[in-house]
Amino acid sequence: MNIDEIRKKYAMESYVADVNADIGKTTIVFTLREKAGALAETLKLFQAHDVNLSHIESRPSKTHEGCYEVLVEFAEAEDHRKIEGVIEHFQQKAEKKVLVQDWNTKNKQNKDSVPWFPQKINDIDQFANRILSYGAELDADHPGFKDMTYRERRKFFADIAFNFKHGDKIPTITYTDEEIATWRTVYNELTVMYPKNACQEFNYIFPLLQQNCGFGPDRIPQLQDVSDFLKDCTGYTIRPVAGLLSSRDFLAGLAFRVFHSTQYIRHHSAPKYTPEPDICHELLGHVPLFADVEFAQFSQEIGLASLGAPDDVIEKLATLYWFTIEFGICQQDGEKKAYGAGLLSSFGELQYALSDKPEVVDFDPAVCCVTKYPITEYQPKYFLAESFASAKNKLKSWAATINRPFQIRYNAYTQRVEILDKVAALQRLARDIRSDISTLEEALGKVNNLKMK
Ligand SMILES: [Fe+2]
Repeated sequence: MNIDEIRKKYAMESYVADVNADIGKTTIVFTLREKAGALAETLKLFQAHDVNLSHIESRPSKTHEGCYEVLVEFAEAEDHRKIEGVIEHFQQKAEKKVLVQDWNTKNKQNKDSVPWFPQKINDIDQFANRILSYGAELDADHPGFKDMTYRERRKFFADIAFNFKHGDKIPTITYTDEEIATWRTVYNELTVMYPKNACQEFNYIFPLLQQNCGFGPDRIPQLQDVSDFLKDCTGYTIRPVAGLLSSRDFLAGLAFRVFHSTQYIRHHSAPKYTPEPDICHELLGHVPLFADVEFAQFSQEIGLASLGAPDDVIEKLATLYWFTIEFGICQQDGEKKAYGAGLLSSFGELQYALSDKPEVVDFDPAVCCVTKYPITEYQPKYFLAESFASAKNKLKSWAATINRPFQIRYNAYTQRVEILDKVAALQRLARDIRSDISTLEEALGKVNNLKMK
């Protein structure tokens, strides 16, 4: 589900009527549908942004039947970004947001125009709970909507993620027999399709997951085990997420090789269908290729390009993510193979994407990033990569055209991004490159010596 769909879906559930940002005090008035727990869930967002409320009032809405209006007031935070985060959340959900825009314009005049972005891996804690919907909220047409046990279970998973901090171990879950049966159905149906339809890299890694992380029909793998495995292979780690993140925040995670993953499973009544990502999609679709070096770098490049980028670039990068990491196909030994997680976790679309029915074009980031796509039906068009390495190089060239007033570099030792805008930073980079070049020369010399013997 993308942000437009979320806006449409939740518009009436969070209707921002007014935002007042006097010096030293900010007020937001929003409208909620009358629903048990709705206010408590919404107020968690303030907690997530570390904003302390000083006053709350509510009253039945005169303009929206079945809704009530809530006024919240909070004092100016030391870190203004925290308040911005709350405003941004409501802005994304709001049906009417004139005053929010005024507020933003006023504030942008006083600020640097580069959006805030995380510079070290634990900065992710600052936005990981800036979610567009709490994972326990289900739509009326969701297969689990009327199942109170399922909804409680979803809340249990959302709360785990909500309380997670960088460096924590992901809690071990005792999945129920019903949940394991759902996993088994999905696992058995998909895994028979992989040898013929998945790319070689996926098929190379999948048995390693069976051997090392307990992938199999009778057990849902634990996220911590999978995260440890990925860390060993490519440095990627998994972080549980309590709901849907904005594209900016989700992509920022990839910059640090952090993949935000759900931990719950789809409803047992419809094992072949899920309206949102679940653990089957994450573990069977995404996880295997995060263990591949080229793919891991390709994914991180998308994330790094997003840091500090303007909104229109974020939208393009989210589109690139969609057509590659979710729905990408590649050419191998003269045949089309799937590498996108949306395909590798969908029985029907996996076969459809590789058939002659859809349009297939060569992967070109400049074209791909502005291509429109449907979110609730099969893709009419797929982008074909020659290899992950070639896709990564193309993406890097395209990313160099992004209008960002600084260059960044990821330091894997410190898990920080370094901004290359000072002579000292450039000198450090030059030193590292010199050291790498000398290692390369020595290695080449040794390989040549071996060949001559
Ligand atoms: Fe996904």
